[in-house]
Amino acid sequence: MAKNIQAIRGMHDVLPEQSPLWHFLEDRVRQVLDSYGYREMRTPILEMTDLFKRSIGEVTDIVEKEMYTFEDRNGDSLTLRPEGTASCVRAGIEHGLLYNQVQRIWYRGPMFRHERPQKGRYRQFHQIGAEAYGLSGPDIDLEIILLTRRFWQQLGLDGVELQINTLGTSEERKAYRGVLVEYLNGHKEQLDEDSLRRLDGNPLRILDSKNPDMKQIIADAPSLMDHLGEESQAHFESVCKGLDDTGVAYVINPRLVRGLDYYARTVFEWVTDRLGAQGTVCAGGRYDGLVEQLGGKPSPAIGFAMGVERLIALLEEDRERLELKQPDAYLVLMGDEAQRQGMLLAEKLRDQMPWLQLITHCGGGSFKSQFKKADRSGARYALVLGEDELSRGIIGIKPLREDAEQQQRPIDQLADFFNREL
Ligand code: HAM
Repeated sequence: MAKNIQAIRGMHDVLPEQSPLWHFLEDRVRQVLDSYGYREMRTPILEMTDLFKRSIGEVTDIVEKEMYTFEDRNGDSLTLRPEGTASCVRAGIEHGLLYNQVQRIWYRGPMFRHERPQKGRYRQFHQIGAEAYGLSGPDIDLEIILLTRRFWQQLGLDGVELQINTLGTSEERKAYRGVLVEYLNGHKEQLDEDSLRRLDGNPLRILDSKNPDMKQIIADAPSLMDHLGEESQAHFESVCKGLDDTGVAYVINPRLVRGLDYYARTVFEWVTDRLGAQGTVCAGGRYDGLVEQLGGKPSPAIGFAMGVERLIALLEEDRERLELKQPDAYLVLMGDEAQRQGMLLAEKLRDQMPWLQLITHCGGGSFKSQFKKADRSGARYALVLGEDELSRGIIGIKPLREDAEQQQRPIDQLADFFNREL
């Protein structure tokens, strides 16, 4: 017999058992985004490969070795998006949204990176991200960070720490790069294989190395912060002052460099130690040069993206606390006539209460087996309709989540009951 086909390694199904957690997160996050005036944009999952090469950068890990790239039937090179920012800028330019305007945009959806799968690191994962265009001052940097803080508040997550840094302008970085390469060349024998490879193309990423053997050489490296111009320094100080004013705790991490090339000035990550090695739940920063680089009129930009699976893993830890949405009622139907009338009743209840989550039992079976299914569905109440109830115009209501007696109500008072109880 042929072997069953399984999901692709590093790509996961979200099962019905899990989806209430996803809905909880998505609803809360969307509420926060709405409350700051961000509007959703949906872009295709596939883009021309060049888009990512030109934005994320040719010598980044993502473009060098992680993209799902293939030729389509026309011979065009296409790539499954590894992140959302490039698509957002591409769409913004294409539809004239970015010229001389302020835009606050958010997006969500699956992203694809051919990384080595492990806990918190997948080949298909989901991001929710937001981008603000047309604003160059530190006030929007602060807004973006405050917005992300509000997510954790609304989701009831604590223990996520803000790390922040500035990468200066691209000119400042270029100058610093020279100084850094000179320093690293002086210590070449201490560099690991990864760092040697990055020395030419992307030396700043060496500062981000997780190899403990590299710790000392990185600690002693010249700091980018000391090579910033006045304006960049003032911008960063103003962001930090705003964080102080609004009571956001943060750590300045001069080694925070990010793995994508488009950043300039403010960069930040929200990190937790509850997820092992993959502890960054949200990351972003300013990318003022990217719009122009991709062919648009220059426009300042800043944004972030969250790793949804990582946040779900945190929420999963205290699932009990969340009061996730469960069905309101499960309608148990005994006998042929009750089956028929039950369908009509259920439709009527949904007309009266469009918010009601009601499962109608299908497929017959004994009272006991129907009750078992009602219980397993997670519903708060079982509604019982049999020949006897039908003939008397009543329905049984049995609370399933608390120790309480079944009660009987006239069928036409059910809506009143639910309006009061739910
Ligand atoms: P990023 O740091 O590559 O930035 O990804 C953002 C977040 O997505 C990470 O902090 C992590 O939570 C999640 N993530 C990344 N890769 C994986 C993976 N393989 N499995 C699970 N989760 C993952 C960006 O993508 C930028 N576009 C963020 C941004 C928006 N910057 C400005 N605007």
